[in-house]
Amino acid sequence: MNIVVVNNYDSMSEEVAKMVSAQIKCKPNSVLGLATGSSPLGVYRLLEEYHRSGVDFSQVVTFNLDEYVGLAADHPQSYRYYMEENLFSKVNVKRENSHIPNGTAKDVHEECRRYDELIRHAGGIDLQLLGIGTNAHIGFNEPGTPFGSTTQVVSLAESTIRDNARFFASPDEVPTQAISMGIKSIMHAKNIVLMANGGSKAEAIYAAVHGPVTPEVPASVLQLHPSVTIVVDQAAASKL
Ligand code: F6R
Repeated sequence: MNIVVVNNYDSMSEEVAKMVSAQIKCKPNSVLGLATGSSPLGVYRLLEEYHRSGVDFSQVVTFNLDEYVGLAADHPQSYRYYMEENLFSKVNVKRENSHIPNGTAKDVHEECRRYDELIRHAGGIDLQLLGIGTNAHIGFNEPGTPFGSTTQVVSLAESTIRDNARFFASPDEVPTQAISMGIKSIMHAKNIVLMANGGSKAEAIYAAVHGPVTPEVPASVLQLHPSVTIVVDQAAASKL
């Protein structure tokens, strides 16, 4: 694991955005794995700037980690909506190349199989961006998820529902299920970059980097991946 400790959120965002832009410059038809939430917002703002200065997304293919079950693409809290707002509408990525699990699919289990097949068909993910939950989840793979899991329907942990309630009018509105890329699907990515900021992530970062590799700490599986960079601000690195 390569661990990069930076001063603050802006430096974290810059470090990660530069890696994404280098990836696209080296391989214009890169396949990117993307995350939502607060952590990557600064990265997406910078990618918009880099795009204005010439970074070309026209051949880039993207796969998001997850989507809430039951939220349609036009729901303001859906991850499709988030990606449109924060990245897709700001760069020249083609909509047919930007994939997010469909949380309103009639058969969500079939949707999971379709999603893994799409990733395989695209040649696998070149660079996967990850955030981390305060309980060390990656994607929505909560503690206890088997390392061999592929894309699947998951039930959100109580702590995740609490953490994500800030985006909804009340905790009752947070969906209790999501479709998430599995741990095995994430581990197949050629390169992984995990970003974290703030003291609330310090415990999870410590357990992911120094703790035992166990499904109880989903991010600890990254210790087994050959190419992982963890970019953390000082607060998130405070227990390392
Ligand atoms: C988001 C995702 C989650 C988040 C994690 C951290 O697509 O898969 O694992 O990365 O919950 O969320 P934030 O960045 O909001 O603290």
